[in-house]
Amino acid sequence: MNATMSLDKTKHYPVMLDQVLSIISPQHGGTFIDCTFGGGGYSHAILKYPNTKVFAIDRDQLTQQYANILVKKFPKRFSFFQNKFSNLNKIIKSDLNPRAIIFDLGLSSFQLLDHQRGFSFNSSGFLSMEMGINKYSAYDVVNTLDKQHLASIIKILGEEKDGRLIANKIVKYRTKKPIKTPEELTSIINDVKKNYNKYKKNPATKTFQAIRIYVNQELTELILGLIVATQLLSNGGKLVVVSFHSLEDRIVKNFFKLYSNLNKNPSRYLPLNKKKSDLFRSLSKKPLTPNKKEINQNIRSRSAKLRYAIRNNNSFFYPEEFQKQFSSYFKLEETRL
Ligand SMILES: C[S@@+](CC[C@H](N)C(=O)[O-])C[C@H]1O[C@@H](n2cnc3c(N)ncnc32)[C@H](O)[C@@H]1O
Repeated sequence: MNATMSLDKTKHYPVMLDQVLSIISPQHGGTFIDCTFGGGGYSHAILKYPNTKVFAIDRDQLTQQYANILVKKFPKRFSFFQNKFSNLNKIIKSDLNPRAIIFDLGLSSFQLLDHQRGFSFNSSGFLSMEMGINKYSAYDVVNTLDKQHLASIIKILGEEKDGRLIANKIVKYRTKKPIKTPEELTSIINDVKKNYNKYKKNPATKTFQAIRIYVNQELTELILGLIVATQLLSNGGKLVVVSFHSLEDRIVKNFFKLYSNLNKNPSRYLPLNKKKSDLFRSLSKKPLTPNKKEINQNIRSRSAKLRYAIRNNNSFFYPEEFQKQFSSYFKLEETRL
């Protein structure tokens, strides 16, 4: 299978496409939900099989142009909604019975490469970092958020040990003039991380990750997205997630572990299949990762981790324990501007 697809002049590589397809097996037909449409790589690959239907979602208005291509090509089998995936249960009817719901988290190459979006370090465009349907931009965050909260965001959401120092520097800088571009923000961060030559990645990577996550409330979205997706799946339905950093992977891993009957040490008085506190009957124990060939072809795939779980026939119950476990992310990402 050729994982490359060109809906635009820019080459687009859907990450771990072969593995995703082999888990969801669209050759048997059925309905699929693509929660992160992006350039449409997954949706298109599924629709190539007859007897499939795809409902796709993306928060980014600019993905509509790629969706229009598929609407034209598959008018009866493809629908697109510009929305956040945490709203999945408001968009999709509860009796749809999808065979799989798929999340491919993070940014698409189109977003990353568009200098006007403000995601890349050397961009002189506006410091936006908005994926779409946002309450504020990165500009608002770095120029108005209080120092304490800014430091926590950089430290926790970026796993950046110098969070406090970087927040201090940002706040000092903005008293003179507002920080308008990613380029400006990168140089402020580099000033703190002076010995950055020893780093392989750009020293601003972790801070950019943190601010982007905050602007898009990405962890809250993921937690709520997993919950509503699980609610929509019925017995045998698959929940497939491709994540790109440890914070995301930890959330997915813990969700599957908490509500799967395989990885626990249940009460010895209760037979495994009788436990009613589970939502999944099977899960991928270890995350799948891209092979060398894919990494060579698309370097951005190198940090991808794929996990999936299969819904059992227990009725849905709200996974409060999971939400409680990550309640600190809800607090951290809540609107303060
Ligand atoms: C890595 S790309 C997906 C690429 C896609 N699988 C493909 O093959 O073209 C991630 C996409 O998810 C979207 N996205 C991220 N978070 C979202 C959310 N909470 N709700 C809806 N879409 C989201 C982004 O706007 C982006 O377009």
